[in-house]
Amino acid sequence: MGHSKIYIRLELLIGVWVGLWLTVSSCTSNQAERPYIIGFSQCTGGDAWRQAMFDEMQREISFYPNLELIITDAEGNNEQQLRDIDSLMKLEIDLLIISPNEAAPITPKVENVFRSGIPVVVVDRRTSSEVYSAYVGANNHEIGLTAGEYIGQLLNGRGKVLEIWGLKGSSPAKDRNRGFREGLERYPGVTVEHEVMGMWERDTAARRFSLHNWVLDSIDAVFAHNDVMATAARDFLDSMGYRSIPCIGVDGLPGPGGGINMVLNGTLAATLLYPTGGEEAIRLAADILQRRPVQKENILQTTIIDSTNVRIMKMQADRLYSQQLAIEKQGDRLAAQAQVYRNQRQVLIVVLISLILAVALAVVSTFLLREKQKNNYKLQVQTEEILAQRNQISQMAEAAEEAHNAKLKFFTNLSHELRTPLTLILGTVESMQRKVLDAHIQGSVKQIQTNSLRLLRLVTQLMDFRKVESGKMRLQATRSDLLIFVREISDAFGELAKKRKIDFRLLCGEPSIPLWFDVNKLDKVLFNLLSNAFKFTPEQGSIFIRIELDEAHQKVCLQVEDSGRGMSPQQAKMAFDRFFQVENQGQMGTGLGLALSKELIELHHGKISVDSVARGGTVFTIYLPMGDAHLKPEEKAEDSAMLDQGNYLWYGSDLVEMTLPFSTSTEKEMLGSRGVKSHRILLIEDNSELRRFVGDQLSEEYEVLVAADGEAGIKLAFEQVPDLVICDVMLPGESGLEVVTQLKQDLRSSHIPIILLTAQSSLDQQIKGIQAGADVYLTKPFSMEFLKEQSRTLLRNRERQRERYLSELKIESEEGTTPPQNQDREFINRFIALIEARMGDPDFNVQAICEELNLSRVQVYRKVKALLGYSVSDYLKLVRLKQGRQLLLDSDRPIAEVAESVGFASAAYFSTAFRNRYQQSPSEFRSRRSHEARS
Ligand code: FRU
Repeated sequence: MGHSKIYIRLELLIGVWVGLWLTVSSCTSNQAERPYIIGFSQCTGGDAWRQAMFDEMQREISFYPNLELIITDAEGNNEQQLRDIDSLMKLEIDLLIISPNEAAPITPKVENVFRSGIPVVVVDRRTSSEVYSAYVGANNHEIGLTAGEYIGQLLNGRGKVLEIWGLKGSSPAKDRNRGFREGLERYPGVTVEHEVMGMWERDTAARRFSLHNWVLDSIDAVFAHNDVMATAARDFLDSMGYRSIPCIGVDGLPGPGGGINMVLNGTLAATLLYPTGGEEAIRLAADILQRRPVQKENILQTTIIDSTNVRIMKMQADRLYSQQLAIEKQGDRLAAQAQVYRNQRQVLIVVLISLILAVALAVVSTFLLREKQKNNYKLQVQTEEILAQRNQISQMAEAAEEAHNAKLKFFTNLSHELRTPLTLILGTVESMQRKVLDAHIQGSVKQIQTNSLRLLRLVTQLMDFRKVESGKMRLQATRSDLLIFVREISDAFGELAKKRKIDFRLLCGEPSIPLWFDVNKLDKVLFNLLSNAFKFTPEQGSIFIRIELDEAHQKVCLQVEDSGRGMSPQQAKMAFDRFFQVENQGQMGTGLGLALSKELIELHHGKISVDSVARGGTVFTIYLPMGDAHLKPEEKAEDSAMLDQGNYLWYGSDLVEMTLPFSTSTEKEMLGSRGVKSHRILLIEDNSELRRFVGDQLSEEYEVLVAADGEAGIKLAFEQVPDLVICDVMLPGESGLEVVTQLKQDLRSSHIPIILLTAQSSLDQQIKGIQAGADVYLTKPFSMEFLKEQSRTLLRNRERQRERYLSELKIESEEGTTPPQNQDREFINRFIALIEARMGDPDFNVQAICEELNLSRVQVYRKVKALLGYSVSDYLKLVRLKQGRQLLLDSDRPIAEVAESVGFASAAYFSTAFRNRYQQSPSEFRSRRSHEARS
């Protein structure tokens, strides 16, 4: 994660760098816009005049940074020039400058170029048409004319001239010739005697002129179309001894070898200045490209240079020349500096970008470094935490393991310890059973035996389980007949089946089933399955044991099928879980039996499964492998094992338990109604034995009502209004806590004290019990004596409370009323207020009170009796008498009237009741009191 982040950032930086670099470099190159390309097709380039033209162009173009010049040299060849133009066009030139070699062959191509949209500047030599953008050059006709007039004058109007032509097809040659002839026209005595085709070239002119040596005597002057050809004529004339014949040329170039110098040193008589137009051509091209208006025809000035003006011309030319050189030098320097500047700028930009990137890189690196350090620190902290947690967990695991082992050890030890006293108890019980005992005691002894056996079975199961878990339980298989073995065990259940009218059958199609198994382990499994089947199968149900051989798979299949209430899929899934219990009305397994069975079957290399449908019965299926190939030598018993008879003993405990009829919720048992008992206790307990036992014990002192579940208990409490309720917390249906809540909320039963019994000793449960309104909370196992003592205390407290109520009553106390504090006080106040208000009515009786309070006669009776200790009628009578007694004291009203005012139907009945209560008649009471008052 951290690494990929770094890579991404580095890539980003590189990307930024490249991007910036490209932008900058494109900016620097774009700063000078894309240059215009000017193609210059030169007809020939070998001579000084053309060189001068080229130099001028270069000089001029250096002032235009956006112009670029490409020059081609056709070397005087028309075809070559045509090819040159094509190549320039391919280079996508923006403008063409051309000096055509000969006009006619070049013109069509030039026209094409112009028509394709490329501007054309024609320089020096013309084309045959005017299809071009601009022309620059001197007026060659005028040059010829001037030359003609000059020679005419020079020869004083008489003489013969030899004319040396330039290239005949080129426009300057034609124009100069035409002008020359016109110039001579004014001097009819001067004629052109000979013409030589010099082709503009010195060598050609020299060669062809030398062929005319026979004319030397007849000529007086030479006119050549340019200086180089004139010089060649001079040289030849000189060599032939004709030094006086003057030669006149055209061009008048400055510098060594140039026309001006030739005039100065007398080589030439005169020359006509013919400017190259290079500078002007570039200027025109620039204007056209910049879309500035230009003149189409640009004619350059010419002049004649001879001995009269040559010096000044030379001076001027030299100055110009040196200035031009200076300019060129300056230009070169400028260009060099510009290049340096450009280079430096690029370097600067690169340095700047690199610097920015370096700073950015430094910032990112610092940030990444910090992040990494932070992450490292976090990682370190986490690692430390994880290590600490791991240590803690392993310590806790060790501690848990230790605690678990200690617990298991403790349970095993305890189980061991329990076995001995249990066995002793069972021995004692057996010996007691042999004696002739009172039927009541015999019942108790039987119960001791049943429960001791059950305890012994649980202890043994626990130990077996521990043995299996610790791997100490070993299979001791012998080869026996499974059918005989199953029959023997099932026989033990025959009696029970008969009693419960259960269709109990062993079904097997084989005469015998030889199998390797451990009798002392398989019998535990079978007993467990059969006990369960009997436990959950109702009367007139069915229980079948099926044994089948699956020879193909070399397996024996044993099934125990019942028509009991079955299990839900969830219950079936957890049936073999060692902490799982299937609840039955009043009966619960410990959850160990099936778990142990599974372990024992697996010890046999077999399998056990359950298939059950809620309310549709249960089938347990066991598969055991046939033969002994699956058994290790140590899993076989050395001698043929005997079934441990002791096993039956404790399995028997289940059978005993199951034969006891258990009470249903509708059943009302009245126990111990021997003699008259002052209080009545309602016992709500689902376990039939405990109910029977506690009921028996309480019935010695109290009248006992019993109920097997909460619903029945509540119903009984409302109907019978007992003096005390003892209720189990774990009840089928409504729990003990719900019973307490309902009883305490209902006016009919709110006054009844309640003791809650439970196996749950947690403080939380106790608090819940007390919160629900229970008066006492006892956890199992409890001492019967303690329960009895608690019952006595609660009933005594009730007595005290009653006295308190009485003392607080208006009728008894001078102090006035105590405000009602709870439902019961409220009831009493209502009850007393009712009596006080209505006692004057002789028809006001118990019936009327019940109607007013909206309660049954029994309920009002019990409630008033419980709270005040009087029956309702006794209390009504008492109040009436007390009120009558007060009236006798406070007034002189006749006795009959007093009796009537407190609701007695007759004065006689009032007197009898008064005498019974106060041991004197009303009249005796009145006279004794008045006597006492007087004395
Ligand atoms: C140079 C040149 C000049 C002449 C001009 C005519 O090549 O021959 O001497 O004046 O061309 O086009």
